[in-house]
Amino acid sequence: ARTRRYTFNVTMATVTRLCVTKSVPTVNGQFPGPRLVVREGDRLVVQVHNNINSNVTFHWHGVRQLRSGWADGPSYITQCPIRPGQSYAYDFRIVGQRGTLWWHAHFSWLRATLYGPLVILPPRGVPYPFPKPDRQVTLMLGEWFNADPEAVIKQALQTGGAPNVSDAYTFNGLPGPTYNCSSGDDTFRLRVRPGRTYLLRLVNAALNDELFFAVANHTLTVVQADASYVKPFAAATLVISPGQTMDVLLTASASAAPSSAFAIAVAPYTNTVGTFDNTTAVAVVEYGPHQSAAALRSLPLPALPRYNDTAAVANFSAMFRSLASARYPARVPRTVDRRFFFTVGLGADPCRSRVNGTCQGPNGTRFAASMNNVSFAMPRTTSLLQAHYQRRYSGVLAANFPAVPPTRFDYTGAPPNNTFVTHGTRVVPLSFNTTVEVVLQDTSVLGAESHPLHLHGYDFFVVGTGFGNYDATNDTARYNLVDPVQRNTVSVPTAGWVAIRFVADNPGVWIMHCHLDVHLTWGLAMAWLVNDGPLPNQKLPPPPSDIPRC
Ligand code: C2O
Repeated sequence: ARTRRYTFNVTMATVTRLCVTKSVPTVNGQFPGPRLVVREGDRLVVQVHNNINSNVTFHWHGVRQLRSGWADGPSYITQCPIRPGQSYAYDFRIVGQRGTLWWHAHFSWLRATLYGPLVILPPRGVPYPFPKPDRQVTLMLGEWFNADPEAVIKQALQTGGAPNVSDAYTFNGLPGPTYNCSSGDDTFRLRVRPGRTYLLRLVNAALNDELFFAVANHTLTVVQADASYVKPFAAATLVISPGQTMDVLLTASASAAPSSAFAIAVAPYTNTVGTFDNTTAVAVVEYGPHQSAAALRSLPLPALPRYNDTAAVANFSAMFRSLASARYPARVPRTVDRRFFFTVGLGADPCRSRVNGTCQGPNGTRFAASMNNVSFAMPRTTSLLQAHYQRRYSGVLAANFPAVPPTRFDYTGAPPNNTFVTHGTRVVPLSFNTTVEVVLQDTSVLGAESHPLHLHGYDFFVVGTGFGNYDATNDTARYNLVDPVQRNTVSVPTAGWVAIRFVADNPGVWIMHCHLDVHLTWGLAMAWLVNDGPLPNQKLPPPPSDIPRC
């Protein structure tokens, strides 16, 4: 194992996309940010210097951060933000994880441009459990806003309505040939050779949209999800939720004509009421020389499901199974110490226009979002982890997270009358090594919608999922406890539920939230407070000396 050191200078840099030139927050002047490559077992030290006029933090999305919660990064959860002019070193090890993860800013909406891949190679000499690819390519899907994303969310909070949507989806920051207005090349090009196999390391870094992904005339073989191996399966179209990563094999046709080119397309999956970015972004697989932008614009697109094709999404999600082999066993908890039922969804605040701006949300209210009807309030004077470490909760936590009795939702009828949420910083304390099951149920308040739920500090097993209301008796009996996929981000299906299990073996404070940034901003989050275990190697170490203060 090695120590890999990187420096992140957070600076403004000029970027042109969609014929709009503007200054955006970047790491080291790069957009998207630099790719970090490590091996399983390595220690990673990322020295961050904040040179922009905003607070910032960085999160290493999917990294387990075993006993290194101080390096996890969500602002006000595990650290106070790094203020302008200040520095902080994220110092952690990659233990027992390999594959594709990513990093992104975890303050406000800064991750719109502050993101990049984190590739974890197997330990030296350890092969992949699938045929060795000839080449590896990281491909980050993102969203581009012509406006300043910080202004977009600020305006939404002022009006109480929904934020403006993005202007384009991007491949490694490039929107494709439709927008060929800059001097450079706006298209992501994957150059292939006939018969060769490519490992595409895909990341959905979009702020607010789940995405369909397909390559014309090519089938993809999924081999990994969220840095966990899966039983390989073929798919014509992928569905990737924000926060999720997926490693897929693409084999270039052995018989393709030397100058052929095929479109890669990305389009949204959503049931959002109202507007969403319904553009399709295009990239290209090229067997021969560069095609002109005009040629690329006329390439036939791969067939993609309709934007609201929930059945297609469910069919795809059902394909994921962990390897569960002798070499890669699935350690699925068979019994559970504590069971939780959380509802997730949108809601509203009543209109108090003089206090909080205008009320352009549903029926003259203001949009909010919640879990168990609590809209999560970030602390402002400390981080939750700091409060937990010092055992000083007063003034930080309101109360424990409420356990709501199973609620039945009518997904077909009119939404319920009372759509108002409560607000508070509420957490669920867990004893070390508790085996946890959580059923996450989509609400019908303000319409059913899919929510990509991300848990920090853990990989969980997805033991069950279904449409309609969760039924404790029948659904539990049908759980997959043999080879469920292990992930860090799973979508609660539209008008349905998903059940996850994990063992709370990592002491610290871990946020679980919707990875649609607008929902996170509105409060669709909660935090687990995992206590230390009795042994020395089961305790959270003290904070590093350079931890930022609020
Ligand atoms: Cu990728 Cu809390 O986020």
